[in-house]
Amino acid sequence: MLREAVSYLLTPCSPAARSLGYLYEALALQARAARCAAHWSGHIANCHEAIREAMAACPGRTSALVCGSGLLLEAPMQALLAGFSRVDCLDIVHLRGVKKRYPQRTVFIEADLTGVAGPIAAARGKTPFDPGSPPPVPALGDEYDLVVSCNLASQLAVLPVRALCKRGLYSQEQLDGFARALVLTHLRWLAALPGVVCLITDTVRQRQSPGGETETEDALWGVGLKNTTRQWWWDIAPAPELGRNLSQRNRMCAVAVFTQENMSDGAGT
Ligand SMILES: C[S@@+](CC[C@H](N)C(=O)[O-])C[C@H]1O[C@@H](n2cnc3c(N)ncnc32)[C@H](O)[C@@H]1O
Repeated sequence: MLREAVSYLLTPCSPAARSLGYLYEALALQARAARCAAHWSGHIANCHEAIREAMAACPGRTSALVCGSGLLLEAPMQALLAGFSRVDCLDIVHLRGVKKRYPQRTVFIEADLTGVAGPIAAARGKTPFDPGSPPPVPALGDEYDLVVSCNLASQLAVLPVRALCKRGLYSQEQLDGFARALVLTHLRWLAALPGVVCLITDTVRQRQSPGGETETEDALWGVGLKNTTRQWWWDIAPAPELGRNLSQRNRMCAVAVFTQENMSDGAGT
């Protein structure tokens, strides 16, 4: 606890990332990853394999970008560094220990891929944020031979929606539409990139309660994917992580070479 509190104070991070809870979540993820290492090993192996498949389909060898790099558990960094001259890692927050692990040929970029965290944080108590306006498309990515969306798509809306929800100014319909727009903008951005794109994401979250009931949630707000190349369950929170008999597993999928053809339900248009 003390170590986490010190890291919270010392980790360089944008005020928006701090106030919306990204830094807190990064530290919580790190702690959970340590507790659940055995339960997560199959999930991590699947992510690594999906990215290796994408690398095999990639003719260029100059640079790769890992979006949602986080703790760099799910990206096979040794293989990426062996395969590319440079590996850029992009996340809204990186913990200091993660950066120290890869001092060479790795560039750590702290950026918000949605572009909404800053405006949401700034709108606190002032002009209300408009969740109906289209999210900006990231102005990067064209220069990479390989871009990996590394367990990020479902996460893009979670903290922005939580922050907006707390303000009580928006209807559930507005919040759901906003979340869906963030997911769609991300997938459309990926599909338009010239290099090889690898998508890894959860699609469904399933909670098993003490009474044995199962609660299922769509992780992508109704945005559909098709022809995924790999699927598996991730025991993200085995009991007692969330409660004595409460557990959560996420349905994961990967598309080694993601294109617009992998988007369904009108998502590709
Ligand atoms: C499930 S974690 C991915 C973990 C990571 N792939 C790993 O191997 O440790 C989701 C990551 O997405 C990042 N993230 C969420 N929203 C983001 C945004 N708007 N821009 C950039 N990164 C974001 C979080 O900070 C977090 O590190």
